[in-house]
Amino acid sequence: MREGRPEKRLFQAPRGTRDVLPVEQDYWRYVEETAQRIAQLHGYRRIDTPAFEETPLFLRSVGEGTDIVEKEMYSFQDRGGVSLTLRPEGTAPVCRAYLEHGMHNLPQPVKLYYLASIFRYDRPQAGRYRQHEQFGWEALGSDAPALDAEVIQMSWELYQLLGLKGLTLQLNSIGCAQCRPAYVEELRRFYEGKARHLCRDCQSRLLRNPLRLLDCKRDQALAAAAPASFQHLCPDCASHFQHVQSYLHLLELPYNLDHRLVRGLDYYTRTVFEVQPADLGAQSTLGGGGRYDDLIQQLGGPPTPAIGFATGIQRIILNLKKQGVPIPPQEGPRVFLAYLGEEAQQLSLRLAAQLRREGIAVASAFGNRSLKAQLRQAHALGAPYAAIIGEDEVRAGTVTLRHMATGEQRSLTFEQAVKDIKGNH
Ligand code: HAM
Repeated sequence: MREGRPEKRLFQAPRGTRDVLPVEQDYWRYVEETAQRIAQLHGYRRIDTPAFEETPLFLRSVGEGTDIVEKEMYSFQDRGGVSLTLRPEGTAPVCRAYLEHGMHNLPQPVKLYYLASIFRYDRPQAGRYRQHEQFGWEALGSDAPALDAEVIQMSWELYQLLGLKGLTLQLNSIGCAQCRPAYVEELRRFYEGKARHLCRDCQSRLLRNPLRLLDCKRDQALAAAAPASFQHLCPDCASHFQHVQSYLHLLELPYNLDHRLVRGLDYYTRTVFEVQPADLGAQSTLGGGGRYDDLIQQLGGPPTPAIGFATGIQRIILNLKKQGVPIPPQEGPRVFLAYLGEEAQQLSLRLAAQLRREGIAVASAFGNRSLKAQLRQAHALGAPYAAIIGEDEVRAGTVTLRHMATGEQRSLTFEQAVKDIKGNH
Protein backbone atom coordinates (compact mmCIF):
# COMPACT_ATOMS: atom_id res chain seq x y z
CA MET A 1 0.00 0.00 0.00
CA ARG A 2 1.38 3.40 -0.97
CA GLU A 3 1.61 5.88 1.85
CA GLY A 4 -1.05 8.56 1.96
CA ARG A 5 -3.45 6.60 -0.21
CA PRO A 6 -5.98 4.47 1.64
CA GLU A 7 -6.05 0.82 0.64
CA LYS A 8 -9.33 -0.02 -1.07
CA ARG A 9 -9.54 -3.81 -0.57
CA LEU A 10 -12.47 -5.37 1.32
CA PHE A 11 -11.49 -6.85 4.62
CA GLN A 12 -11.99 -10.54 5.26
CA ALA A 13 -12.10 -12.53 8.48
CA PRO A 14 -8.50 -13.47 9.40
CA ARG A 15 -7.21 -16.77 8.01
CA GLY A 16 -8.45 -19.72 10.05
CA THR A 17 -11.42 -17.83 11.52
CA ARG A 18 -15.04 -17.84 10.42
CA ASP A 19 -18.14 -15.77 10.89
CA VAL A 20 -21.10 -17.69 12.22
CA LEU A 21 -23.95 -16.31 10.14
CA PRO A 22 -27.62 -16.38 11.16
CA VAL A 23 -28.30 -19.45 8.95
CA GLU A 24 -25.80 -21.43 11.05
CA GLN A 25 -27.10 -20.31 14.41
CA ASP A 26 -29.69 -23.09 14.78
CA TYR A 27 -26.79 -25.57 14.89
CA TRP A 28 -24.95 -23.53 17.49
CA ARG A 29 -27.98 -23.08 19.70
CA TYR A 30 -28.81 -26.78 19.44
CA VAL A 31 -25.29 -27.89 20.43
CA GLU A 32 -24.88 -25.33 23.19
CA GLU A 33 -28.26 -26.02 24.75
CA THR A 34 -27.75 -29.79 24.62
CA ALA A 35 -24.29 -29.52 26.19
CA GLN A 36 -25.49 -27.17 28.92
CA ARG A 37 -28.37 -29.53 29.70
CA ILE A 38 -25.97 -32.46 30.11
CA ALA A 39 -23.65 -30.39 32.28
CA GLN A 40 -26.48 -29.28 34.53
CA LEU A 41 -27.91 -32.81 34.78
CA HIS A 42 -24.54 -33.90 36.14
CA GLY A 43 -24.25 -31.06 38.65
CA TYR A 44 -21.76 -28.85 36.79
CA ARG A 45 -21.85 -25.07 37.19
CA ARG A 46 -20.67 -22.63 34.58
CA ILE A 47 -17.38 -20.79 34.83
CA ASP A 48 -16.06 -18.10 32.48
CA THR A 49 -12.40 -17.18 32.53
CA PRO A 50 -10.63 -14.40 30.60
CA ALA A 51 -9.75 -14.89 26.94
CA PHE A 52 -6.06 -14.41 27.82
CA GLU A 53 -3.83 -15.47 30.68
CA GLU A 54 -0.23 -14.92 31.70
CA THR A 55 1.89 -16.96 29.29
CA PRO A 56 3.74 -19.03 31.97
CA LEU A 57 0.42 -20.60 33.01
CA PHE A 58 0.32 -22.48 29.71
CA LEU A 59 4.06 -23.21 29.62
CA ARG A 60 3.75 -24.91 32.99
CA SER A 61 0.53 -26.82 32.28
CA VAL A 62 0.26 -27.69 28.59
CA GLY A 63 4.03 -28.27 28.56
CA GLU A 64 6.98 -26.65 26.80
CA GLY A 65 7.63 -29.56 24.44
CA THR A 66 4.09 -29.73 23.04
CA ASP A 67 2.96 -28.54 19.60
CA ILE A 68 0.56 -26.11 21.24
CA VAL A 69 3.28 -24.31 23.18
CA GLU A 70 6.01 -24.63 20.55
CA LYS A 71 4.03 -23.66 17.47
CA GLU A 72 0.48 -22.62 18.15
CA MET A 73 0.16 -20.01 20.87
CA TYR A 74 -0.94 -16.46 20.22
CA SER A 75 1.41 -14.77 22.67
CA PHE A 76 2.11 -11.06 22.93
CA GLN A 77 3.46 -8.46 25.28
CA ASP A 78 0.92 -5.93 26.41
CA ARG A 79 1.80 -2.28 26.79
CA GLY A 80 2.82 -2.90 30.38
CA GLY A 81 5.41 -5.46 29.23
CA VAL A 82 3.49 -8.49 30.54
CA SER A 83 3.61 -11.62 28.38
CA LEU A 84 0.07 -12.79 27.74
CA THR A 85 -1.37 -15.63 25.66
CA LEU A 86 -4.80 -16.04 24.13
CA ARG A 87 -6.20 -19.17 25.77
CA PRO A 88 -5.04 -22.20 23.69
CA GLU A 89 -7.13 -24.56 25.87
CA GLY A 90 -9.53 -24.35 28.79
CA THR A 91 -8.23 -26.63 31.53
CA ALA A 92 -5.29 -24.59 32.85
CA PRO A 93 -7.38 -21.40 33.22
CA VAL A 94 -10.02 -23.35 35.17
CA CYS A 95 -7.32 -24.73 37.50
CA ARG A 96 -5.90 -21.24 37.92
CA ALA A 97 -9.37 -19.95 38.86
CA TYR A 98 -9.98 -22.93 41.19
CA LEU A 99 -6.85 -21.99 43.13
CA GLU A 100 -7.28 -18.24 42.95
CA HIS A 101 -10.78 -18.43 44.40
CA GLY A 102 -10.00 -21.02 47.08
CA MET A 103 -12.34 -23.61 45.58
CA HIS A 104 -10.29 -26.36 47.23
CA ASN A 105 -12.13 -25.34 50.41
CA LEU A 106 -15.50 -26.29 48.89
CA PRO A 107 -16.92 -29.82 49.04
CA GLN A 108 -15.04 -31.87 46.43
CA PRO A 109 -15.21 -32.59 43.61
CA VAL A 110 -15.93 -29.12 42.31
CA LYS A 111 -17.67 -29.51 38.95
CA LEU A 112 -17.30 -26.71 36.43
CA TYR A 113 -18.20 -26.33 32.77
CA TYR A 114 -17.30 -23.70 30.20
CA LEU A 115 -18.04 -22.56 26.71
CA ALA A 116 -14.99 -20.69 25.49
CA SER A 117 -13.17 -19.45 22.42
CA ILE A 118 -9.84 -21.20 21.98
CA PHE A 119 -6.97 -19.81 19.93
CA ARG A 120 -4.35 -21.95 18.21
CA TYR A 121 -2.10 -21.03 15.32
CA ASP A 122 -3.02 -24.26 13.52
CA ARG A 123 -2.82 -24.95 9.78
CA PRO A 124 -6.42 -24.19 8.76
CA GLN A 125 -8.50 -26.89 7.08
CA ALA A 126 -11.97 -28.40 7.46
CA GLY A 127 -12.58 -28.79 11.18
CA ARG A 128 -9.37 -27.05 12.15
CA TYR A 129 -9.39 -23.33 12.80
CA ARG A 130 -7.29 -20.69 14.48
CA GLN A 131 -10.20 -19.73 16.66
CA HIS A 132 -12.58 -22.47 17.66
CA GLU A 133 -15.15 -22.78 20.40
CA GLN A 134 -14.96 -25.49 23.02
CA PHE A 135 -17.48 -26.88 25.39
CA GLY A 136 -15.66 -28.45 28.32
CA TRP A 137 -16.20 -29.82 31.82
CA GLU A 138 -13.76 -30.27 34.66
CA ALA A 139 -14.30 -32.17 37.94
CA LEU A 140 -11.63 -31.18 40.46
CA GLY A 141 -10.73 -32.71 43.80
CA SER A 142 -11.36 -36.45 43.51
CA ASP A 143 -9.38 -39.41 42.22
CA ALA A 144 -12.32 -41.82 42.39
CA PRO A 145 -12.46 -44.06 39.31
CA ALA A 146 -16.26 -43.70 39.38
CA LEU A 147 -15.74 -40.02 38.58
CA ASP A 148 -13.70 -40.99 35.50
CA ALA A 149 -16.57 -43.21 34.43
CA GLU A 150 -19.11 -40.44 35.01
CA VAL A 151 -17.10 -37.88 33.00
CA ILE A 152 -16.57 -40.35 30.15
CA GLN A 153 -20.23 -41.35 30.22
CA MET A 154 -21.52 -37.76 30.12
CA SER A 155 -19.14 -36.91 27.26
CA TRP A 156 -20.39 -39.92 25.31
CA GLU A 157 -23.99 -39.07 26.20
CA LEU A 158 -23.61 -35.59 24.75
CA TYR A 159 -22.98 -36.96 21.25
CA GLN A 160 -25.78 -39.51 21.59
CA LEU A 161 -28.24 -36.85 22.66
CA LEU A 162 -27.15 -34.67 19.74
CA GLY A 163 -28.03 -37.56 17.43
CA LEU A 164 -24.56 -38.44 16.11
CA LYS A 165 -24.11 -42.04 15.03
CA GLY A 166 -21.23 -44.44 14.46
CA LEU A 167 -18.83 -42.88 16.98
CA THR A 168 -16.11 -44.75 18.80
CA LEU A 169 -14.71 -44.23 22.26
CA GLN A 170 -10.97 -44.74 22.71
CA LEU A 171 -9.54 -45.33 26.16
CA ASN A 172 -6.07 -45.63 27.62
CA SER A 173 -4.20 -45.14 30.88
CA ILE A 174 -0.81 -43.46 30.70
CA GLY A 175 0.08 -44.01 34.35
CA CYS A 176 1.50 -41.59 36.87
CA ALA A 177 4.80 -39.96 37.83
CA GLN A 178 5.80 -43.25 39.53
CA CYS A 179 5.24 -45.71 36.70
CA ARG A 180 5.49 -43.62 33.57
CA PRO A 181 9.28 -43.02 33.46
CA ALA A 182 9.98 -46.78 33.23
CA TYR A 183 7.37 -47.14 30.50
CA VAL A 184 8.75 -44.19 28.54
CA GLU A 185 12.20 -45.76 28.78
CA GLU A 186 10.79 -49.00 27.38
CA LEU A 187 9.16 -47.04 24.57
CA ARG A 188 12.42 -45.26 23.80
CA ARG A 189 14.21 -48.63 23.59
CA PHE A 190 11.52 -49.93 21.23
CA TYR A 191 11.88 -46.97 18.88
CA GLU A 192 15.65 -46.50 19.10
CA GLY A 193 16.59 -49.22 16.64
CA LYS A 194 13.90 -48.02 14.26
CA ALA A 195 14.73 -44.32 14.24
CA ARG A 196 15.51 -44.25 10.52
CA HIS A 197 11.92 -45.35 9.79
CA LEU A 198 10.52 -42.37 11.70
CA CYS A 199 9.43 -39.05 10.21
CA ARG A 200 11.61 -36.04 10.97
CA ASP A 201 9.32 -34.71 13.73
CA CYS A 202 9.33 -38.07 15.44
CA GLN A 203 13.09 -38.37 15.33
CA SER A 204 13.30 -35.29 17.49
CA ARG A 205 10.35 -36.45 19.65
CA LEU A 206 12.31 -39.64 20.36
CA LEU A 207 14.76 -37.54 22.34
CA ARG A 208 12.35 -35.10 23.93
CA ASN A 209 8.96 -36.78 24.38
CA PRO A 210 8.79 -40.41 23.18
CA LEU A 211 5.14 -40.73 24.26
CA ARG A 212 4.15 -38.43 21.42
CA LEU A 213 5.57 -40.91 18.88
CA LEU A 214 2.49 -43.01 19.46
CA ASP A 215 0.02 -40.57 18.01
CA CYS A 216 2.03 -39.54 14.95
CA LYS A 217 -0.25 -40.01 11.96
CA ARG A 218 2.67 -41.06 9.73
CA ASP A 219 4.18 -43.75 11.90
CA GLN A 220 1.04 -45.69 12.81
CA ALA A 221 2.31 -49.14 11.87
CA LEU A 222 5.26 -48.86 14.23
CA ALA A 223 3.08 -47.38 16.94
CA ALA A 224 0.69 -50.35 16.68
CA ALA A 225 3.53 -52.69 17.63
CA ALA A 226 4.90 -50.47 20.40
CA PRO A 227 4.62 -51.46 24.08
CA ALA A 228 1.34 -50.43 25.72
CA SER A 229 1.32 -48.09 28.72
CA PHE A 230 -1.66 -49.87 30.28
CA GLN A 231 0.49 -52.99 30.54
CA HIS A 232 3.19 -51.08 32.44
CA LEU A 233 1.17 -49.47 35.22
CA CYS A 234 2.12 -49.46 38.89
CA PRO A 235 -0.31 -51.40 41.15
CA ASP A 236 -2.26 -48.24 42.11
CA CYS A 237 -2.70 -47.08 38.51
CA ALA A 238 -3.53 -50.61 37.37
CA SER A 239 -6.22 -50.94 40.02
CA HIS A 240 -7.58 -47.49 39.17
CA PHE A 241 -7.78 -48.35 35.48
CA GLN A 242 -9.37 -51.69 36.28
CA HIS A 243 -12.10 -49.93 38.25
CA VAL A 244 -12.69 -47.34 35.54
CA GLN A 245 -13.20 -50.13 33.01
CA SER A 246 -15.50 -52.11 35.25
CA TYR A 247 -17.70 -49.00 35.74
CA LEU A 248 -17.75 -48.40 31.99
CA HIS A 249 -18.96 -51.98 31.54
CA LEU A 250 -21.60 -51.36 34.16
CA LEU A 251 -22.76 -48.29 32.24
CA GLU A 252 -22.66 -50.33 29.02
CA LEU A 253 -20.30 -47.93 27.31
CA PRO A 254 -18.66 -49.55 24.31
CA TYR A 255 -15.00 -48.46 24.41
CA ASN A 256 -11.83 -49.59 22.65
CA LEU A 257 -8.58 -49.87 24.51
CA ASP A 258 -6.05 -47.91 22.45
CA HIS A 259 -2.47 -47.83 23.67
CA ARG A 260 -1.63 -45.21 21.02
CA LEU A 261 -3.89 -42.65 22.66
CA VAL A 262 -1.63 -40.25 24.57
CA ARG A 263 -3.22 -36.81 23.89
CA GLY A 264 -1.32 -33.70 22.90
CA LEU A 265 -0.99 -31.95 26.25
CA ASP A 266 1.57 -32.79 28.93
CA TYR A 267 -0.61 -32.55 32.02
CA TYR A 268 -2.39 -35.90 31.66
CA THR A 269 -2.02 -38.78 34.11
CA ARG A 270 -3.80 -42.14 34.25
CA THR A 271 -7.09 -42.18 32.28
CA VAL A 272 -7.19 -40.54 28.83
CA PHE A 273 -10.02 -40.86 26.33
CA GLU A 274 -11.24 -39.56 22.99
CA VAL A 275 -14.39 -39.75 20.93
CA GLN A 276 -14.01 -40.15 17.19
CA PRO A 277 -16.44 -40.29 14.29
CA ALA A 278 -16.63 -43.34 12.00
CA ASP A 279 -14.87 -41.75 9.02
CA LEU A 280 -11.46 -41.00 10.34
CA GLY A 281 -9.60 -38.03 8.90
CA ALA A 282 -6.57 -36.27 10.28
CA GLN A 283 -8.77 -33.73 12.11
CA SER A 284 -11.49 -36.07 13.13
CA THR A 285 -11.36 -36.18 16.90
CA LEU A 286 -14.61 -34.81 18.21
CA GLY A 287 -13.58 -34.47 21.80
CA GLY A 288 -11.13 -35.71 24.35
CA GLY A 289 -9.96 -35.48 27.89
CA GLY A 290 -8.54 -37.30 30.82
CA ARG A 291 -7.09 -37.07 34.32
CA TYR A 292 -4.58 -34.44 35.30
CA ASP A 293 -3.89 -35.40 38.91
CA ASP A 294 -0.65 -33.41 39.26
CA LEU A 295 -1.58 -30.20 37.46
CA ILE A 296 -2.99 -28.17 40.33
CA GLN A 297 0.03 -28.99 42.43
CA GLN A 298 2.29 -27.97 39.54
CA LEU A 299 0.49 -24.64 39.56
CA GLY A 300 1.32 -24.15 43.24
CA GLY A 301 -1.79 -25.65 44.85
CA PRO A 302 -2.36 -28.58 47.18
CA PRO A 303 -2.43 -32.11 45.71
CA THR A 304 -5.76 -32.13 43.85
CA PRO A 305 -6.59 -34.96 41.48
CA ALA A 306 -8.94 -33.95 38.67
CA ILE A 307 -10.42 -35.04 35.36
CA GLY A 308 -12.06 -33.25 32.45
CA PHE A 309 -13.10 -33.24 28.85
CA ALA A 310 -13.55 -30.77 26.00
CA THR A 311 -15.15 -30.88 22.59
CA GLY A 312 -14.93 -28.53 19.61
CA ILE A 313 -18.30 -27.12 18.61
CA GLN A 314 -17.33 -26.56 14.96
CA ARG A 315 -16.33 -30.21 14.66
CA ILE A 316 -19.62 -31.34 16.15
CA ILE A 317 -21.54 -29.18 13.67
CA LEU A 318 -19.45 -30.50 10.79
CA ASN A 319 -20.47 -34.03 11.77
CA LEU A 320 -24.13 -33.13 12.35
CA LYS A 321 -24.21 -31.79 8.79
CA LYS A 322 -22.32 -34.74 7.36
CA GLN A 323 -24.77 -37.14 8.98
CA GLY A 324 -27.81 -35.04 8.05
CA VAL A 325 -29.03 -34.87 11.64
CA PRO A 326 -32.23 -32.78 11.69
CA ILE A 327 -31.91 -29.66 13.84
CA PRO A 328 -34.96 -28.07 15.44
CA PRO A 329 -35.13 -24.60 13.88
CA GLN A 330 -35.45 -21.51 15.99
CA GLU A 331 -39.02 -20.30 16.09
CA GLY A 332 -39.55 -17.50 13.56
CA PRO A 333 -41.99 -14.62 13.96
CA ARG A 334 -45.53 -15.64 14.89
CA VAL A 335 -47.05 -12.69 13.12
CA PHE A 336 -46.02 -10.21 10.45
CA LEU A 337 -47.40 -6.69 10.67
CA ALA A 338 -48.23 -5.10 7.32
CA TYR A 339 -49.53 -1.56 6.94
CA LEU A 340 -50.45 0.99 4.31
CA GLY A 341 -49.94 4.66 5.06
CA GLU A 342 -48.47 6.76 7.87
CA GLU A 343 -51.36 6.50 10.31
CA ALA A 344 -51.50 2.75 9.85
CA GLN A 345 -47.78 2.55 10.54
CA GLN A 346 -48.25 4.30 13.87
CA LEU A 347 -50.98 1.85 14.87
CA SER A 348 -48.92 -1.07 13.70
CA LEU A 349 -45.98 0.08 15.87
CA ARG A 350 -48.33 0.12 18.85
CA LEU A 351 -49.74 -3.29 18.03
CA ALA A 352 -46.21 -4.71 17.65
CA ALA A 353 -45.23 -3.45 21.10
CA GLN A 354 -48.41 -4.90 22.60
CA LEU A 355 -47.82 -8.31 20.99
CA ARG A 356 -44.19 -8.47 22.10
CA ARG A 357 -45.19 -7.62 25.65
CA GLU A 358 -47.36 -10.73 25.49
CA GLY A 359 -44.28 -12.72 24.48
CA ILE A 360 -45.23 -13.06 20.82
CA ALA A 361 -42.42 -12.73 18.25
CA VAL A 362 -43.27 -10.08 15.70
CA ALA A 363 -41.74 -9.04 12.38
CA SER A 364 -42.90 -6.00 10.52
CA ALA A 365 -42.55 -4.14 7.29
CA PHE A 366 -40.61 -0.89 7.08
CA GLY A 367 -40.99 1.72 4.34
CA ASN A 368 -43.74 2.13 1.79
CA ARG A 369 -44.16 -1.18 0.06
CA SER A 370 -47.24 -2.63 -1.63
CA LEU A 371 -49.41 -4.98 0.40
CA LYS A 372 -48.47 -7.77 -1.99
CA ALA A 373 -44.74 -7.22 -1.37
CA GLN A 374 -45.32 -7.14 2.37
CA LEU A 375 -47.27 -10.40 2.33
CA ARG A 376 -44.53 -11.96 0.26
CA GLN A 377 -42.09 -11.02 3.00
CA ALA A 378 -44.42 -12.47 5.65
CA HIS A 379 -44.46 -15.70 3.70
CA ALA A 380 -40.68 -15.74 3.28
CA LEU A 381 -40.24 -15.33 7.04
CA GLY A 382 -42.62 -18.23 7.66
CA ALA A 383 -44.98 -16.20 9.88
CA PRO A 384 -48.26 -18.12 10.36
CA TYR A 385 -50.21 -14.82 10.58
CA ALA A 386 -50.15 -11.39 8.99
CA ALA A 387 -51.88 -8.51 10.77
CA ILE A 388 -52.81 -5.93 8.16
CA ILE A 389 -53.68 -2.32 8.91
CA GLY A 390 -54.83 -0.20 5.94
CA GLU A 391 -57.03 2.90 5.63
CA ASP A 392 -60.25 0.98 6.39
CA GLU A 393 -58.77 -0.56 9.51
CA VAL A 394 -57.50 2.84 10.70
CA ARG A 395 -61.01 4.25 10.33
CA ALA A 396 -62.69 1.31 12.07
CA GLY A 397 -59.97 0.87 14.71
CA THR A 398 -59.51 -2.77 13.71
CA VAL A 399 -56.91 -5.05 12.24
CA THR A 400 -57.29 -7.69 9.52
CA LEU A 401 -55.80 -10.94 10.68
CA ARG A 402 -54.78 -13.18 7.80
CA HIS A 403 -54.00 -16.84 8.28
CA MET A 404 -51.14 -17.23 5.86
CA ALA A 405 -51.57 -20.92 5.04
CA THR A 406 -55.30 -20.74 4.18
CA GLY A 407 -55.63 -17.08 3.17
CA GLU A 408 -58.61 -16.77 5.50
CA GLN A 409 -59.02 -13.21 6.80
CA ARG A 410 -60.96 -11.81 9.78
CA SER A 411 -61.51 -8.28 10.96
CA LEU A 412 -60.75 -7.97 14.68
CA THR A 413 -60.10 -5.40 17.37
CA PHE A 414 -56.48 -5.16 18.55
CA GLU A 415 -57.38 -6.96 21.78
CA GLN A 416 -59.11 -9.77 19.95
CA ALA A 417 -56.18 -10.07 17.52
CA VAL A 418 -53.67 -10.32 20.38
CA LYS A 419 -55.85 -12.92 22.10
CA ASP A 420 -56.29 -14.92 18.93
CA ILE A 421 -52.61 -15.01 18.04
CA LYS A 422 -51.70 -15.85 21.63
CA GLY A 423 -54.42 -18.48 21.94
CA ASN A 424 -53.14 -20.36 18.91
CA HIS A 425 -49.55 -20.24 20.15
P1 HAM B 1 -7.87 -30.95 22.88
O1 HAM B 1 -7.96 -32.37 22.44
O2 HAM B 1 -6.65 -30.20 22.53
O3 HAM B 1 -8.09 -30.98 24.44
O4 HAM B 1 -9.10 -30.15 22.32
C1 HAM B 1 -10.43 -30.58 22.57
C2 HAM B 1 -11.26 -30.54 21.30
O5 HAM B 1 -11.23 -29.23 20.73
C3 HAM B 1 -10.76 -31.43 20.17
O6 HAM B 1 -11.18 -32.75 20.34
C4 HAM B 1 -11.43 -30.79 18.97
O7 HAM B 1 -12.79 -31.16 18.87
C5 HAM B 1 -11.38 -29.32 19.32
N1 HAM B 1 -10.26 -28.64 18.64
C6 HAM B 1 -8.96 -28.65 19.00
N2 HAM B 1 -8.22 -27.90 18.15
C7 HAM B 1 -9.08 -27.42 17.23
C8 HAM B 1 -8.95 -26.56 16.08
N3 HAM B 1 -7.77 -26.05 15.73
N4 HAM B 1 -10.07 -26.28 15.36
C9 HAM B 1 -11.27 -26.77 15.72
N5 HAM B 1 -11.46 -27.57 16.79
C10 HAM B 1 -10.38 -27.90 17.54
C11 HAM B 1 -8.06 -29.89 25.25
O8 HAM B 1 -8.02 -28.75 24.86
C12 HAM B 1 -8.16 -30.23 26.72
N6 HAM B 1 -8.17 -28.97 27.49
C13 HAM B 1 -9.37 -31.09 27.01
C14 HAM B 1 -9.48 -31.41 28.46
C15 HAM B 1 -10.33 -30.85 29.36
N7 HAM B 1 -8.73 -32.28 29.12
C16 HAM B 1 -9.08 -32.29 30.39
N8 HAM B 1 -10.05 -31.40 30.55
